[in-house]
Amino acid sequence: MSRRTEKPFWDPDALRAQLNTAVLGKRLIVFNRITSTNDFLKRLARRGAETGTLVLADQQTAGRGRLGRLWQSPPEAGLWFSFVLRPHLRLEQIGALPLAIAVIVAETLSAFCHTEFAVKWPNDILWNQCKVCGILCETQISPALLSGESSNQLEYVVAGVGINVNQQPSDFPAELRARAISLAMITGQLLPRQDVFLELLHRLETGLFTNLTETLPTLLLRWRALCPDLGKPVVLQQAQEMIRGVFVNIGSGGELVLRLADGQRKMFSAGEVAIAK
Ligand code: BTN
Repeated sequence: MSRRTEKPFWDPDALRAQLNTAVLGKRLIVFNRITSTNDFLKRLARRGAETGTLVLADQQTAGRGRLGRLWQSPPEAGLWFSFVLRPHLRLEQIGALPLAIAVIVAETLSAFCHTEFAVKWPNDILWNQCKVCGILCETQISPALLSGESSNQLEYVVAGVGINVNQQPSDFPAELRARAISLAMITGQLLPRQDVFLELLHRLETGLFTNLTETLPTLLLRWRALCPDLGKPVVLQQAQEMIRGVFVNIGSGGELVLRLADGQRKMFSAGEVAIAK
C-alpha cells in the first residue's frame, strides 16, 4: 500500500476553496510541522482568536494527549487539528464538550469506513478496542474576581482532535501497537485525509456551532448509544485511587456516573475507565 494518494502536505488554498462551513475554519492556519496545534492555538485564543479559528498540521513534534501523555503525530498519516470554541454554556456543561466532539467524529468515521466505532469515556474513539482518535479539550476560565462578573466566566475552549488515518502497524511505536490503529488498517485502504477533514468540519459545525444548548443533550444521547461500556462493571483509575462501580450513565456535564457497591450513585469528572475483570 503506497502512502502517496495525495499531496504530502496540506494545500491551504485547496482546503479553503472546498470548506463548506461558515464559522469553523473561517480562519484556517495550516502548518507542515508544528510542536502542538493545541499549544499554538491556546496562544492565539489568549489574544482573542475568534470562535471557529482552526489550526491544522501535517506533523506535530510535541503532540500532547490527556494526562500529560505524548501523542504520536507523524507526517502524511493523520489528522491533527485544533479549534477554538467560545460557547454560551454553563460552566458545569463544559465537560460534555469532549464527548460531543467524540460522537461527531465517531459518526463521521463510520460514514467513511462503513463500520461502527465505539466511544470510550471521556474522549476516545475505539475500533475493536484499539484507539483510532483522541480528543484533548483545554479550557480557560476567568475567575469572577478578575473578570468583574458575579460568577466565573468561560473564556475559551481549545479542542484538539487527533485521528490516525493512514499509518501502517510499523508506524506506531512498539508499545502502542496492540492498542492503536488507523483507518487504513481498519479498511485495508488509504483514505483521502482531505475528504475526511472537510466532512468532519461540516458535521462539527452543525453539531457545535449552531445552537449548542439545544444540540448538546442530543449529542450526549448519541454518545450513550455508541458506548459499549455503559451498564458494565468498571474500574475508574484516578491519581491515587481505584474506584469500582457499574457505569450507569453520563451526566449532563459529561460526568461518569457510577453505582458503587453500597448502591450509592456518584459522579466523576476525571480518570481512566477500564472494564472490571
Ligand atoms: C488523548 O487521547 O489523550 C488526546 C489526544 C489529542 C491529540 C490531538 S492532535 C491535535 C491536538 N494537538 C495536540 O497536541 N493534541 C491534540
